[in-house]
Amino acid sequence: MGDFSDEEKAAMKKAAGIAACEFVKNGMKVGLGTGSTVKYTILELGRRIREEGLKIQGIPTSEQTEIISIEQGIELVNWADCSGLDIVIDGADEFDSELHLIKGGGGALLREKIVAESSGSMVVVADATKKVQTLGDFPLPVEVNPYGWEQTMRRLQNLCPGEVLVRKNADGSTFLTDNGNPILDACFGSTIDKPREMEAVIRSIAGVVEVGLFVDIADVIVLAAQNGCEIIRKENSRI
Ligand code: A5P
Repeated sequence: MGDFSDEEKAAMKKAAGIAACEFVKNGMKVGLGTGSTVKYTILELGRRIREEGLKIQGIPTSEQTEIISIEQGIELVNWADCSGLDIVIDGADEFDSELHLIKGGGGALLREKIVAESSGSMVVVADATKKVQTLGDFPLPVEVNPYGWEQTMRRLQNLCPGEVLVRKNADGSTFLTDNGNPILDACFGSTIDKPREMEAVIRSIAGVVEVGLFVDIADVIVLAAQNGCEIIRKENSRI
């Protein structure tokens, strides 16, 4: 993992974000992820549209990404007119050796999962700090319905060896997602060695809207380290 300065981390994110654009071809419908790494992907796609005449359509995974995508001149479509995407490029908060992910650090997990499950392939952009042996050191984001969230939280707490925290904004108010829901961050520690089972158990709690475990969805990780980008492919990768 190593310790990286903020400048080194930013350089790694930029390298991964740009390298992932290699997977985007003319005419594709592209899922546009959320976060500080994939932001560089969106900027690079904008550059290719302006300078190389790239033609793509996109669906953003958050309001924040929608704003950046419009600024970059990416033509956006909506789900009423689009039944599937060719590819999604998105970030991750953690990934393991089987390319299972924790996502939702930016609060966009529900839209990110809808987009990822509707895409023919998923490319994840990440820096080396996101690679873990066992998922869970990053608190697992769980989006919940506002009704009775306190009870949903107690039931989640029964499953979680560490604390479960309600996500807050900087001013102390409750963070709400683009869908108007709170997020509970569950501190499992590095214990999630069966992510598919964990996802199913948490999802079975009434009130849970989505869990930030993305299991068997990612095909490729574009991993930026200090000495360049590495492409890590899942065994049965779709791309
Ligand atoms: C957004 O909800 C998340 O899933 C992000 O994709 C994830 O937090 C990665 O973000 P960074 O690229 O900013 O680390």
